[in-house]
Amino acid sequence: MSARSLVSITDLDRDEILGIFHLADAFKEVAERPIPKVPALRGKTVATMFFEASTRTRLSFETAAKRLSADVMSFSASTSSLEKGESLRDTIETIDAMGVDAMVVRHKSSGVPAQVRAWTKASVINGGDGQHEHPTQALLDCYTIREALAARAGDEEGPEDLRGLRIGIVGDVRHSRVARSDVLAMTTLGAEVVLVGPRTLLPPSLDGWPVKATVDLDSVLGDLDVVYLLRIQRERADSALLPSLDEYHWRWGLTRQRAARLSDRTLVMHPGPMNRGVEIAPEAADLPSSLITRQVKNGVLIRMAVLFHLLGAPAPGLIDVPDVPDVPDVPDVPDVPDVPDVPEGAELPESDGQLARGALHA
Ligand code: CP
Repeated sequence: MSARSLVSITDLDRDEILGIFHLADAFKEVAERPIPKVPALRGKTVATMFFEASTRTRLSFETAAKRLSADVMSFSASTSSLEKGESLRDTIETIDAMGVDAMVVRHKSSGVPAQVRAWTKASVINGGDGQHEHPTQALLDCYTIREALAARAGDEEGPEDLRGLRIGIVGDVRHSRVARSDVLAMTTLGAEVVLVGPRTLLPPSLDGWPVKATVDLDSVLGDLDVVYLLRIQRERADSALLPSLDEYHWRWGLTRQRAARLSDRTLVMHPGPMNRGVEIAPEAADLPSSLITRQVKNGVLIRMAVLFHLLGAPAPGLIDVPDVPDVPDVPDVPDVPDVPDVPEGAELPESDGQLARGALHA
C-alpha cells in the first residue's frame, strides 16, 4: 500500500481539512509550552527536498517536524549531486534508500511531487510545484481566516468553516499555485471567491472553477471580507502580460488610499514573500487587520498537523496530542560555605599538604 500523501487540496475532503484544523488547535497549546515539543513522531524521518528557493515553507516544515520529535533531513539542490548530473529520479531513490517517512517536495515544474510519489515508499507532501498547487499554504490561509473570525466572535472554537465569507484573490491568478489551492480549499469550506486582476493574469477560462472574476478591483473591494494579495512575479513585468509595476500598483495593488477606505473588519492577507509597493503598499501590509505575520506563525501549526495526519494518526479525526511528561524540578544547590582566609604565615595541616602534593604528581 502506498503511503498517504498530500499533493493537492483535492486529496482532502472537507472533514479531513477540518480534522487538520482541530489538530492545529491542539498543537497551538504545545507551541505555548516552555519546551514546545511532543514525542508524536519520534523515530520518523522527514526530508525537506527543495529544488526551488523558500524561506517560510522549508523552515516551517523543519520546525514542525522537530516539534513532533521527528528527525529532519534537509536536502539542498544547489549543493547536491544534481550539480554533477544526477537525475531527479536517482536523487529521490537515493534518499528513499536511506529510509525516510515523508518527503516535502518543492519544484519549479508542475507535477513533480505527483511523479515523486511513484519513486518512493514515503509520504509525499507538495511544498509548491510550478503553477499547480501549494496545498499547505491554502490550509494555513483558511485556518488563519477561521482563527481571526473566532477571535472577533470571542469564541475559542470559532466558526467551523468559511461559509458566508466573500474572499477576493487579487493579482497574478493565472500563474499562481497559491491561488489554485486557495480556491479549492476556500470553496470546499463554503466561501465565495472572486478573482481580481488584469485580464492577462486571470485564468483564460473559469470552466470548472466555482468562482467569479473581475478586472475592476474597486468595484468589489467594499464587499470583501478578505483581500488576499498575490505576489507579482517581477519577471512578468518585462512580458506583455503586465503593464509597468507602477501601473499595476495603481490599478490592482492594495494602495495606501484603498487601504484607508477598507473597513476595520476586512482582513488583509498575502502568502509572502511580499513586493511592498507593488501588490501591497507598506502601510497596508502593517494594518491591524493584516494577518500576514499570523499566516507565517500558523504555518508551523498547520505543518505539524499535516505531518501528524499523514504519519502519526491511526485514524482520521484523531486530535489527542500526547503530553510531554513533566520534567522534575532540579533541587536547589546548597550554598558553598565561605572558605576562611588563611592568616599570613600560617602552616597548612599535614593532610592538606599531602593531598596537594599527591594531586600534583597524579
Ligand atoms: N509562501 C511561501 O511559499 O513562501 P516561501 O516561498 O518563502 O516558502
